[in-house]
Amino acid sequence: MIAIETINLEKTYAVAFWRKTPRVALRPLNLTVEEGEVFGFLGPNGAGKTTTLKLLMGLVFPTGGTARILGKDINDPAIKAQIGFLPEQPYFYDYLTAKELLEYYARLSGMEPKDRGRKVEAMLERVGLKDAARVQLRKFSKGMLQRVGLAQAVLHDPNVVFLDEPMSGLDPMGRREVRDLMEELKQQGKTVFFSTHILSDAEALCDRVAVIHQGELRGVGQVAELTSSVAAKVELIWNGSAVPAGLIALGAECRVIGETIRAVVPEAQQEAALEILRRERLRLISLIPVRSSLEQYYLQKVGAEAAPAVGAR
Ligand SMILES: Nc1ncnc2c1ncn2[C@@H]1O[C@H](COP(=O)(O)OP(=O)(O)OP(=O)(O)O)[C@@H](O)[C@H]1O
Ligand SMILES: [Mg+2]
Repeated sequence: MIAIETINLEKTYAVAFWRKTPRVALRPLNLTVEEGEVFGFLGPNGAGKTTTLKLLMGLVFPTGGTARILGKDINDPAIKAQIGFLPEQPYFYDYLTAKELLEYYARLSGMEPKDRGRKVEAMLERVGLKDAARVQLRKFSKGMLQRVGLAQAVLHDPNVVFLDEPMSGLDPMGRREVRDLMEELKQQGKTVFFSTHILSDAEALCDRVAVIHQGELRGVGQVAELTSSVAAKVELIWNGSAVPAGLIALGAECRVIGETIRAVVPEAQQEAALEILRRERLRLISLIPVRSSLEQYYLQKVGAEAAPAVGAR
């Protein structure tokens, strides 16, 4: 069954004085996500990711088109119980404690009173907030609020979970935990639709990804499928001050930084580049992959000027 389907979904905001200047945030988008898929929505700042999620959540209204979740129109109230949502900037009433807030959400979702306490406790533990359960949210750090946001998104056991940059503001441990949580949701057969700038997370987690730029879908598919035509690159660093002519002939992008030279070459040219360095008796300091093929693909689709925080931890 199809979990999420957008049909020519589009959004133009009216901005400026008298709201006369239209800003196209999303061009007609046609996308389907199958049940049980983990789907990554990638794109630079201002690409239209949050707009798409808000449209799907019914928080803003489309200028055109429509969308369906689990076969039902997004305006059908019956769908609300089956979806969970983590907004980009969760805003909670911050005089409540984490436990009180989750209990409030549990009640809102219609959870049985006898299950509430147990489920809230388990969820607080799951997102690493057991010790802070009785602390008011106004005393929480950004990462802790993000954890509360995640907890409320999955507390009522929804079938389709929408997460707008779930890793944002989290420390490395927190990111690992969110990845585990998303994998767990997948194991349970849930559908996860999330936006991110962090391509390594998308690569590790997603069955399929979509790349969106300037409100327009630029590509969609399995990571392996999308990247089959792009080559990864490696960076070689060595001591020296002059770039060997052979490397320039290989098409290496070289930069001299102090006493070292950095050259980026396609992975396929790695051996040839090393051979040149050996011949010139240059001392290699390091050899590291610079861009995964998904990063390469992404840069092709959105242009290098909109590069994300690739591989950021
Ligand atoms: N309420 C609004 N009024 C006017 N324009 C808006 C509004 N919300 C978003 N936009 C515009 O729509 C475009 C898409 O914004 P959106 O928030 O969807 O991007 P995003 O992909 O989520 O970016 P980010 O990665 O920075 O979160 C941007 O040009 C933004 O300025
Ligand atoms: Mg956004």
